[in-house]
This record gives sequence, C-alpha cells and structure tokens, in this order.
Amino acid sequence: MEAQNEITEEAGLNLQKFKEGFMLSQCGFLAMRLNLPELLAGQEKTVAQMAQETDTQARPLACLLGILSSYGFVQSLGGERYGATPALPLLGEMCHSLGDRFSYQSWGESFHTLKTDKPSWDKVFGKPYYASLHENREAADNFDSLCKLTAEQGLDLFLSRVDYSTVNYLVDLGGNTGTILTGILKTYPHLKGTVFDIPAVVAKAETEFREAGVEQRATAVGGSFFDNIPKGGDMYSFFRVLLNWSDKDALQILKNTAAAMAVDGTLVVVDYVMPDPDHAQFRTLSFGSMNLMVNMGGYVRSDEQWRELLHEASFKVSKVTAIPDYSINIIEARRR
Ligand SMILES: C[S@@+](CC[C@H](N)C(=O)[O-])C[C@H]1O[C@@H](n2cnc3c(N)ncnc32)[C@H](O)[C@@H]1O
Repeated sequence: MEAQNEITEEAGLNLQKFKEGFMLSQCGFLAMRLNLPELLAGQEKTVAQMAQETDTQARPLACLLGILSSYGFVQSLGGERYGATPALPLLGEMCHSLGDRFSYQSWGESFHTLKTDKPSWDKVFGKPYYASLHENREAADNFDSLCKLTAEQGLDLFLSRVDYSTVNYLVDLGGNTGTILTGILKTYPHLKGTVFDIPAVVAKAETEFREAGVEQRATAVGGSFFDNIPKGGDMYSFFRVLLNWSDKDALQILKNTAAAMAVDGTLVVVDYVMPDPDHAQFRTLSFGSMNLMVNMGGYVRSDEQWRELLHEASFKVSKVTAIPDYSINIIEARRR
C-alpha cells in the first residue's frame, strides 16, 4: 500500500465530526431529558412555550432545537415553532441503561483507560459498572429492557444454528431476565433450562417463563458466575456476556463454568468478533470495544483472541459458525 502524503477529503470532513461529536451526543441526551418526543407529540410548539413547560431558558433551548432540526430530529416550522419528526423517538435508544450521562463521565476520564488498560468507570464512580447499575433501579430496568428487546430481535439468528435437539438441560449464564432461554425452550419442548444472573435481574424471569408457558421446564437462579455456577447442565451458554469482561475475569468465569459442567458437556459462546477494517461493522464494533474498555474492562475479541481465551480456560473449540453480516460468532467448545 502506498503511503499517503496529503490530507484526504474524507479525513477533512471527519475532522468536523471529531470536533462536534461530544456536543452532538450531549444534545441527544438533552432532548430526551426534556422528554421532547412527548412534548411535541402530535403538536407543534414555539420555543417560548416549550421553555415554559420544561422550566428551561429560551435562548439555549432555541439553539438546541436548531441543532436537532439540522440533523432531522425536529422540524423547524418558522417563527420559532418546531414539530417532531418520526426520527425524534429514536434518540431514546441513546439513553437506555447507564449509556447516557454516566458514560459521558467515564469517557471524560478515558485517558486513564489508555494509560492503564483498566475501566475509567471504576475510577470515576468508585465501583464497577454492574455494581453501579444496580444502585440505580431505573437505569437497571432500562438496561434489562434493552437486553430483552435486542435478545428478541436476535433470537432467530442462532436458534437455527445451534443444535439443541440432543441437549437435556441448558444453563444460560448471564441470561438476564430469561428472554433467550424462553425462546429456546419454546422451540425445543423436550428441553429444561436454568437462567443464571444477578439476583435482582433473574427475579424478573419467573414472569417471562409463566407468560410464555415454559415455567414447568425453566428455573431462575440468582448469583455471580465468579462464585457459584449451577451444576448439572449438559450445555452452558453465554450470549453477549464475555465481551463485558477483561481476559483475567473472562478466564475466571470460564474456569468456573468448566468446573460446573459435565465432563462431556458443551459450551456455547455467542458473541461479537472484531472484523477486518474493511468490514461494514468495523467502526461500530471498534466504538463498542472502546466503550467496553472504558466502562467495563471488556472488549470485542478477534477470532484468534476468542480461541486463545477458550484454550487457556481448558476448552477445545469444536465448531465455529460465523454470522458475517453482524460479525457474530457462535463458538461451540468442549472441555479438554
Ligand atoms: C450484556 S448482558 C447480556 C444479557 C443476555 N445474555 C442477552 O444476550 O440479552 C450481560 C449480562 O450479564 C449479567 N451479569 C453481570 N455480572 C454478572 C455476574 N457476576 N454473574 C452473573 N451474571 C452477571 C448482567 O446482569 C447481564 O444480564
């Protein structure tokens, strides 16, 4: 490849994004903090009206609305009047879980991560991500809702790609409120399963099991996979869990899993895999990976890094099914 000697047009255009990006996401949070989708639902309003209703100041509010309109999230109707666009509620996705203003603070200290390879989250908030999450009920509920939503959307991707027909008892570790386990049990009526997660999270699973009619075959167990993984499963699964954890922690979790599972048991890891730089998902996953490093200490592993991690935890990879469009791998492994 030839060395570049000039600033490319793309880099020139991107410079503006670098300069404005931190302000732009904050504008999205402000819009949701003001509850703009509700405020403008089915009606247009003047800046003065909105300022009064939200107890804010008209001058910065007008500026915020101008920015949002230039990005297509509200519509300027002239005379300082604004209406919602269909895109406005989408900004709400930004504010799920602790990904909003809390994450903003940890990113503000992200140099700490660069220097130490440790999450700046812990430095800023004095405790790890999930411990912080569970001190904030609303944020924890939002996190679980987002997990449920994306789990429902992604279920079909792996249901057809893993053979559960010969499995008797599946233990889904870090399985949140049981959405994925429920989906699997509904498809495989012979199967029994346990969802394992933090006690406050699995407490919600019983309702999901009952509503789906799988409660006779499903149990919910609360705990930490650093301490007490349920024994007796012939398959253990991690869906989008190990990416949260550093190599040291992920190794510990996997070793605990190996100790809990039957000698001939199967491990299934469904997780993101860092693609090559020319892949369509490369930038998104790189941001995701950096965000994991800053907030949780985990990262998006490459195919090779996944294999190394499993090998070190005494697993032998038996099958890898790639879902290239989403850059997700389904890794099946057995104890060595
Ligand atoms: C990114 S979410 C993935 C949830 C689910 N597997 C899915 O794909 O929708 C990670 C999950 O790990 C759980 N978790 C975090 N720390 C845990 C621990 N020490 N023991 C068990 N589960 C934990 C979280 O509560 C959360 O539900």
